[in-house]
Amino acid sequence: MNPIEQALALLKAGKLVAIPTETVYGLGADARNPIAVQNVYLAKQRPSSNPLIIHIPHMNVLNDWAIDIPNTAFQLAKAFWPGPLTLILPRHPSVSKTITGGQESIAIRVPNHPLTLELLKRFDGGIAAPSANRYGRISPTTTEHVRTELGSRVDYILEGGACTLGIESTIVSLLEGAPIILRQGSISETDLSKVLKQPVYHQQWKTDAIKRENVLITPGSHFSHYAPTTPLYLCEKERLLETALHWARNNKRLCALSFSVPVNALLEHGVPDNCIAKWIVASDNPVLYAQKLYAYLHDFDATKSDCILIENPPNTEAWAAIRDRLQRAES
Ligand code: TXA
Ligand code: MG
Repeated sequence: MNPIEQALALLKAGKLVAIPTETVYGLGADARNPIAVQNVYLAKQRPSSNPLIIHIPHMNVLNDWAIDIPNTAFQLAKAFWPGPLTLILPRHPSVSKTITGGQESIAIRVPNHPLTLELLKRFDGGIAAPSANRYGRISPTTTEHVRTELGSRVDYILEGGACTLGIESTIVSLLEGAPIILRQGSISETDLSKVLKQPVYHQQWKTDAIKRENVLITPGSHFSHYAPTTPLYLCEKERLLETALHWARNNKRLCALSFSVPVNALLEHGVPDNCIAKWIVASDNPVLYAQKLYAYLHDFDATKSDCILIENPPNTEAWAAIRDRLQRAES
């Protein structure tokens, strides 16, 4: 059996298969098998109120999963599928509420990865797949990350190489008439509004109250998410060197991801080598940065350092999804 046939057989048997996508690896199960779907929640230790995304092979089968589909959904699907866009639509009554966290809406996307697309076409159904990490942790962008995160909780991993985009899909709700971005991703507000020729809104989740109390206002908007286990701090360029020196002088081991400060700057200030576990000079290209970000965070975590210091990326639309993930990862 080749890997796709193996994945196919296991999915049909109700097993959990990690699937590669262009964004991050997903932990897949047959969306029409409620026990398999429940096992996804168990494997991730994810609350059952937090719904999963259904992955489908083509927009032609959208009607099997959603009802009352607005024209905007087809416009966006035509423009961006297969690709990193998840649409929130009214749930088809045949879809189990196990998948939707008890809600009347459903999240759907067509991922853009050749192996997973072929798997989906041959599966002739939908694959429910959240990111293949334990709840609240960093999403995996390689099979190695999936293995470290989930070990024997996953029955098979379809090897598809490192994910090309590296951050989760943009999620757009089309339930309210006006399109609302629930989670930022590689497809920006400008990309969406160009296609729809109308304004696209952002869900306002980033209030102090939410951050302080960690309130779950709607699925997908839980503030503390995508976090490494090592404390992570964001820092402006001007304060980065000073902050790193402060940590090092207090005998803390640190990791850093910086655009502007080379590790030599610390060494020149007399910081001993062994205080710096990993120091990475970040790409100033947001596409390349996103591609690597979670791998860096996984690597940083593996050093078991005392803290991770990250230089704030520019406050522009091209960096918006990255800034969002970094803010959610901050301690
Ligand atoms: O790129 C991605 O979207 C990846 C790959 C594997 O496709 N998947 C992913 O899934 O990031 P997950 O489960 O880690 O994140 C999906 C988010 C969750 O925060 C969930 O709360 C939200 O989508 N979500 C799912 N269904 C929803 C719904 N009906 N309404 C609002 N949010 C929903
Ligand atoms: Mg996730």
